[in-house]
Amino acid sequence: MERFDFYSPTKILFGKGREEEVGAQAKAFGGTRVLVVYGGKSARESGLLNRVEDSLAAAGLEYLSLGGVQPNPRLSLAREMVQKGIAFGADMVLAVGGGSVIDTAKGAAHGIANPETDIWDFWMGKAKLTKTLPIGVVLTISAAGSELSDSAVLTDEMHHAKRGLNTDLQRPCFAIMNPELTFTLPKYQVACGVVDMLMHTLERYFNPVTCNFLTDEIAESVMRTVVHYGPTAVADSHNYQAMSEIMWASSLSHNNLTGLGNVKDFTCHQLGHEIGGMFDVAHGATLSAVWCSWARYCLSVNPGRFARLGEKVFGLAPTGEIYADANAAIDAAESFFASLDMPTCLEDLGIGAVTEEILEQLADGFTRGRTRTFGQFKNLDYDDALTIYSMANR
Ligand code: NZQ
Ligand code: ZN
Repeated sequence: MERFDFYSPTKILFGKGREEEVGAQAKAFGGTRVLVVYGGKSARESGLLNRVEDSLAAAGLEYLSLGGVQPNPRLSLAREMVQKGIAFGADMVLAVGGGSVIDTAKGAAHGIANPETDIWDFWMGKAKLTKTLPIGVVLTISAAGSELSDSAVLTDEMHHAKRGLNTDLQRPCFAIMNPELTFTLPKYQVACGVVDMLMHTLERYFNPVTCNFLTDEIAESVMRTVVHYGPTAVADSHNYQAMSEIMWASSLSHNNLTGLGNVKDFTCHQLGHEIGGMFDVAHGATLSAVWCSWARYCLSVNPGRFARLGEKVFGLAPTGEIYADANAAIDAAESFFASLDMPTCLEDLGIGAVTEEILEQLADGFTRGRTRTFGQFKNLDYDDALTIYSMANR
């Protein structure tokens, strides 16, 4: 096996009713004044937020709840929460929601712990994060995997720039995962989540190093679980078995377990973030809209890898003709996305006609104004990115 580090320090409390323990957990991890971050309305309307607040109060903790986080979470709101969190004297940040809420909570934690630094400087690489507040999570959607990940993605809405920050410091100290909290999700959000969690493993599976047997087997098992239970979850968000299987799969897809010893690729995420930053569409949808075009463009790098995906994840019988098998695997992934009503091209995103000029802007953003190339499986420059966006523009 190749060498690797594996750091996944988050305590996980999985199963029905576990949110009742949030106060005790927050206290155990040192919180005394907790900034509670939530989204638009789902956590408030379902009564979850009240139960969380009651649990914090019962543990003797002070709290301040701040909502309003939107999907593709805005930098301006995270900055606002930093100021309010400092005024409140927060010593812990608790996210009650999904990826957008958790990432905003991460941003707030960084800003409160470093009042002298504008948080965007951490995202832009102008300042190095060396300390933050402890972060807890009560998860309400299976998708982004931020509850176990080292990542946080915010959008500078003024400049349409969606950017990620990666650091082990922002892995949450605890994550409460009750699949029943996801029962209220609309179909579309469940489907976006299924795509995202599958993609977090695909982005690790397609890499230049493919000799870690156990890592591949774990990755394929997680992807098979998502392909097996994803459609049931989308069809019926009250199916506990399906919702719990995809909840655990989504977390394991993004704590790096499915990529140990390999190099992460994450090209489709970068391609997708440009679309999300420009058009404010759901993250998962941007990924399925570009993946098949990326795959067809990169197929010749390692057709055997695509063929293996077809056999091990989509259950396709190998024909022995490697390119045919590879193409069949990509077709199977495309059909899977389509079966969930997820976009497989830009037009499906409902963003209207995408002109040549927009495609060029997307490729320009992907390469940061042609100052970088990106990708491990296949390193892409501006022309490559433009070709992939153009292939997806149908
Ligand atoms: O705001 P509310 O009313 O809560 O509605 C949300 C939101 O509209 C709704 N929702 C969440 N839980 C619900 C619910 N509705 C009903 N019942 C529930 N139980 O779902 C909508 C989407 O929420 P969001 O948090 O945006 O979803 P997701 O978890 O997919 O997060 C997406 C964000 O995470 C980033 C994405 O780029 C995107 O900005 N990512 C973060 C990563 C990370 N930090 O590791 C990795 C990912 O690759 C991803 O980039
Ligand atoms: Zn993602």
